[in-house]
Amino acid sequence: MTTINQALSEARDKLQTTSPSPAVDASILLRHVLGCSTGHLFAWPDKQLSQQQALQFSDVLQQRIEGKPIAYITGEREFWSLTFKVTSDVLIPRPETETLVEFVLEKFSANDVLNVADLGTGSGAIACAIAVEHPQWNIIATDASTAALNIAQLNASALNLENIQFSHGQWFEPLTGLDFDLIISNPPYVAMDDPHLSEGDVRSEPEAALASGEQGMDAITLLARQAGSYLKTDGWLVVEHGYDQQQAVYDCFNQGGFADIVQLTDLAGLPRVTAGRYGKSNA
Ligand SMILES: C[S@@+](CC[C@H](N)C(=O)[O-])C[C@H]1O[C@@H](n2cnc3c(N)ncnc32)[C@H](O)[C@@H]1O
Repeated sequence: MTTINQALSEARDKLQTTSPSPAVDASILLRHVLGCSTGHLFAWPDKQLSQQQALQFSDVLQQRIEGKPIAYITGEREFWSLTFKVTSDVLIPRPETETLVEFVLEKFSANDVLNVADLGTGSGAIACAIAVEHPQWNIIATDASTAALNIAQLNASALNLENIQFSHGQWFEPLTGLDFDLIISNPPYVAMDDPHLSEGDVRSEPEAALASGEQGMDAITLLARQAGSYLKTDGWLVVEHGYDQQQAVYDCFNQGGFADIVQLTDLAGLPRVTAGRYGKSNA
């Protein structure tokens, strides 16, 4: 029989060559199998795993060794202190995306009733985080992937959110005939031939959630070019982008008729978010 300590130690050894964070991974996977907290692992190092638990642990460990991301194995990821269901149909929400959420929550008043669109919602991380904080805002969350939209809907239901409407379609297609105070997007922005696409966890994520043309700029260019047609005067477009796309995104916003352009860095100090105000006279 295997104890908690032995299971952790063996898992760390096995993950050494394939995972960038063997100890953390081992702990998360064992907690997932035992349904317990980190504190439990520390408090009961000599507790034995049942045969079924040992088998299940060996199975999830093997999945991780073979390169499956932890979030797809456990089926969840935390974002904005909320738990999101994730599958291989959606991008795993990233901590840097909280920069965009923070900006939006600080910039716009909770008391106004805003119409907001989150384009390319994926797991629904951005839309749900904003909906939780500002229940009076009306949010429409869209995606070209039906499978992703289903996950986003499950997440909104699990959080009892009633102020998000989901709609399927290519970028602005679901917004036809509507206008918004705020359009938000974390679109795909990786260059098609970026070698990172074939490394680590990213290999398991949907390509359509990551890659966008030769320079990674196709989606952002389209968003900046077309958003004005769906924004009220003085409405805002806010997008996440790659750390090396700051100038290119600024230029797209400028050409798209946006003024008061703001660019923000994430917690690692990397340029990550661009926001701009649309005025019909700016164009
Ligand atoms: C980088 S992921 C962002 C997911 C989520 N918003 C987040 O921040 O975690 C980009 C999302 O855009 C969606 N997408 C890609 N191409 C699209 C298109 N042409 N129209 C609408 N959504 C698209 C993908 O399916 C994916 O869910």
